Amino acid sequence: MSKKKVIIDCDPGIDDSLAIMLALKSPEIEVMAITIVCGNSPVSMGFSNAKKVLKFMNRLDIPIYIGEPSPIKKKYVNALDTHGEDGLGESFLPEVDGFENSMDAVSYMQEALKKEKCSVIALGPMTNLARLIERDIDAFLSIDELVSMGGSFKSHGNCSPVAEYNYWCDPDAAALVYKTVYDNHSLIHMVGLDVTRKIVLTPTLLEYMNRLNPEVGDFVKRITKFYFDFHWEWEHIIGCVINDPLAVAYYLDREVCSGFSSFVQIETLGISEGQSVVDSMNFYKKEANAKVLNEADCERFWTMFISRLTGTSPDKLDILKEII
Ligand code: RIB
Ligand code: CA
Repeated sequence: MSKKKVIIDCDPGIDDSLAIMLALKSPEIEVMAITIVCGNSPVSMGFSNAKKVLKFMNRLDIPIYIGEPSPIKKKYVNALDTHGEDGLGESFLPEVDGFENSMDAVSYMQEALKKEKCSVIALGPMTNLARLIERDIDAFLSIDELVSMGGSFKSHGNCSPVAEYNYWCDPDAAALVYKTVYDNHSLIHMVGLDVTRKIVLTPTLLEYMNRLNPEVGDFVKRITKFYFDFHWEWEHIIGCVINDPLAVAYYLDREVCSGFSSFVQIETLGISEGQSVVDSMNFYKKEANAKVLNEADCERFWTMFISRLTGTSPDKLDILKEII
């Protein structure tokens, strides 16, 4: 079966990095490129971190394109408090020189999406996608499937009482994407906090990964230690929520999450800016523009994530059921 082509639009970022690792270890897909957007890290740092991950994965053949350095309207607010001053958990991995691309991310998306059938897995704020809509809506509408880690249906926000960071960081971009999808009778897969909060990398799961593959385990430990500390301090969680890998896993295997179709609009103003308003009861009688995921099969996810990152056959993960 031919590989499905994907562009990973991200803001690495600790969990973005884990998501990239999963994608690169998944034979069903061909990662055409990594496009960087301002978010967790400023784009220059995101570019640097993407190179560090691709170097670890021995995949520096994959092009990285630098995207929008700031949201389309709102003042840029990074999330380095969560991801560390280097955006990679203060692992301070050695810089990887070179690999600058003359083309910017939006130009790359515009060219690539019109050339061949390709999906986009969006793991950061939607600024690059919004600029693509503004520049060439046909290119945006050529996206085969659009999966977004972002938003929240009933789960509380992670950077305001009601908003998830990716949509809060650039609410105008998210609003334009969802409106464009609605206006064109299309669909976006919203992998929000309702499902990602169920995916907690615990010390035991991390140690299991380390036992199965010490090299991978050490790398994951190095980039997640800071994230573990952050989660204990802010949410008294022992472990860390790894949001982005779930969006990749869902793209690979739709059984990983389940949900419902609904009209969704993103609030752009005031105290609720960035909130994904999910009309699950169809009050507004509007056509669904989103598949909202609200249930996750954690065992299915962890089987995929751990087996693929460590290179262990799923049927050899004999203790996984006991530790998730
Ligand atoms: O709210 C979580 C999301 O925001 C994740 O994608 C994380 O990497 C940050 O981008
Ligand atoms: Ca992200």
